[in-house]
Amino acid sequence: MAQSPVKTSLDQEDDMFKLLRQLDIDPHASQRAIAQAVSVSLGRLNALLKLATEQGLVKISDRNGPDKRQRFEYALTAKGAGAKNRLTENFLKRKFAEYDALHAELTGTTSGLSHLNNRTKLMQNNLAPIPELFVSYDSAQKLKLEAADLVSHDLTARQVCDLELLMNGGFNPLKGFLSEADYDSVVDTMRLTDGSLWPMPITLDVGEEFAAGLEIGQDIALRDPEGVILATMTVTDRWEPNKAKEAEKVFGADDDAHPAVNYLHNQAGKIYLGGPIVGIQQAVHYDFRARRDTPNELRAYFRKMGWRKVVAFQTRNPLHRAHQELTFRAAREAQANLLIHPVVGMGKPGDIDHFTRVRCYEAVLDQYPAATTTMSLLNLAMRMAGPREAVWHGLIRKNHGCTHFIVGRDHAGPGNNSQGEDFYGPYDAQDLFREHQEEMGIEMVDFKHMVYVQERAQYEPADEIEDKENVTILNISGTELRRRLAEGLEIPEWFSFPTVVEELRKTRPPRAKQGFTVFFTGFSGSGKSTIANALMVKLMEMGGRPVTLLDGDLVRKNLSSELGFSKEHRDLNIRRIGYVASEITKNGGIAICAPIAPYATTRRAVREDIENFGAFVEVHVATSIEECERRDRKGLYKLAREGKIKEFTGISDPYDVPVDPELSVETENVDVDNCAHQVLLKLESMGLIKA
Ligand code: PPS
Repeated sequence: MAQSPVKTSLDQEDDMFKLLRQLDIDPHASQRAIAQAVSVSLGRLNALLKLATEQGLVKISDRNGPDKRQRFEYALTAKGAGAKNRLTENFLKRKFAEYDALHAELTGTTSGLSHLNNRTKLMQNNLAPIPELFVSYDSAQKLKLEAADLVSHDLTARQVCDLELLMNGGFNPLKGFLSEADYDSVVDTMRLTDGSLWPMPITLDVGEEFAAGLEIGQDIALRDPEGVILATMTVTDRWEPNKAKEAEKVFGADDDAHPAVNYLHNQAGKIYLGGPIVGIQQAVHYDFRARRDTPNELRAYFRKMGWRKVVAFQTRNPLHRAHQELTFRAAREAQANLLIHPVVGMGKPGDIDHFTRVRCYEAVLDQYPAATTTMSLLNLAMRMAGPREAVWHGLIRKNHGCTHFIVGRDHAGPGNNSQGEDFYGPYDAQDLFREHQEEMGIEMVDFKHMVYVQERAQYEPADEIEDKENVTILNISGTELRRRLAEGLEIPEWFSFPTVVEELRKTRPPRAKQGFTVFFTGFSGSGKSTIANALMVKLMEMGGRPVTLLDGDLVRKNLSSELGFSKEHRDLNIRRIGYVASEITKNGGIAICAPIAPYATTRRAVREDIENFGAFVEVHVATSIEECERRDRKGLYKLAREGKIKEFTGISDPYDVPVDPELSVETENVDVDNCAHQVLLKLESMGLIKA
């Protein structure tokens, strides 16, 4: 009798992979049909099913259908879905290796055909589909129901961006939020524990209380801010990170002036969770749907168009003529097609909103030769981490099927540190990228600083102009552009396209027509409310924009009546004021806020929210605590001294004196009218009101 061949562990893994794949595709099939699809006997199928149930990969339930041959219904568990993704990848890796070996055998490594071999590899690497973390539609529907019973984490805006790129393969080879060991390794060495290059810690930060309620091995549901379940995650790790170390190593300094360090210390939760993800559905976007592509969608597009080489241009700013010239040159240099790949997730606080930018990009796209260039939106939350960020961007673009990537001077630069100096050297990003590009499998095209040469009426790389002394070189910096927009000044045609300027002017009207917020801060009884009231009346007298006063006491009565004076409650109170003020500012009004707002970090967070829409003018009413106590208009200081009011600012609770407010007013020897006038003068000097 012929003996059945002995099964190796690889065969076993293949069988399990095929079984999970089959159950995912058709969970209602009869056992015979499943056995056929997996190419195993019924006996072997039962052994596999037993193993899969014991390992918690598959759930089997009775099916009350008419067909007696289909007695059971199978569903992959979250763990099973994760296992399927992992096994799929192993299977593909093996098949590719087998294919490569066969190819080498057929073509001969020493023959002239090795060139062809390389070309085939290039096709495979940048155009073949890459693994995603999603399960099939049927499984997703089931998982969604199961996940309703799981503990949920509501993702922050940044976490939604990270999850989207984890699930769609943009962050390949990550399979979930980093484990503690991978996190340590990425922070210290820019590599995962398996040695793969990965420069950015992708972590799921949560609050202490939420983390404490979890058990290791537990599945949790990850929901977007509207409550939609996007994925499940098996929590394998929970730890309290050393954020100061993360800041130093990843961002170069533990300095809150860096937007990502500020996020780390003042917005991110205290605890990190790590574990593999099972993707249920893509993040929901209602805007510019046709312009959003997953890595596999872009790869398919490049395949369809026959684009073998693609150079990606990353940006978080509108495109002007200099960018167009530079991208043209990059594409020519790399002999590649061009992908304009702007970030629409999160950029730097104060960036132009993505709606405006996308309209600008669409206008510029018409200026590129048809069929050589495309544009796609990337829902990435940038960290502004300079060199590490450049490498990260390169890996993400490689996942999106690109072969080349443009890295500029000061790529993903975060602005100045708290000493007013740059965080990174201007070419650090290019250097780090160059060091790793071979391993990354994507080539750098270094960005030339383009300037306009008036006599030749064209853009040229600044360092290639040989007759500098004899020509007129023109350039408008980002700051200068913002100034011209703010003041309604001319923006020349050589600098940008009229359609782009028109879009920008719509979103950034001259400052005198924009909304803004005046934010008074100071001790109780310092005179904030009195000056704020006087200012409101003066602004109303001038007319032109609606004015709203959000006074401390009024807000506490109408918006925050349930809040006390703990740090947590004060923060919540100020965030609410900030939210309302940002809405007013966005809609072109003037918001005047007058709370104590004792904490610098909260004031900064509010500033960042508001500066997305208009100016934030911080006014420190610098009356000393002694003077406030002497005045004691409401009799509160006396009660605070007697211990009858706890946590009283300046007496038994801290106040962070503003370090760099737009204005500081003294009230001790100056009358209210004069103080309000000083604020008006400041607003005028900032161009927010007309003289
Ligand atoms: S905060 O810290 O910004 O949330 O405070 P705010 O909303 O501006 O509220 C301050 C007013 O509440 C009264 N009050 C106290 N202030 C400080 N500390 C304690 N513990 C406290 N308890 C009550 C006080 O009248 C403040 O009014 P203003 O207008 O500032 O004098």
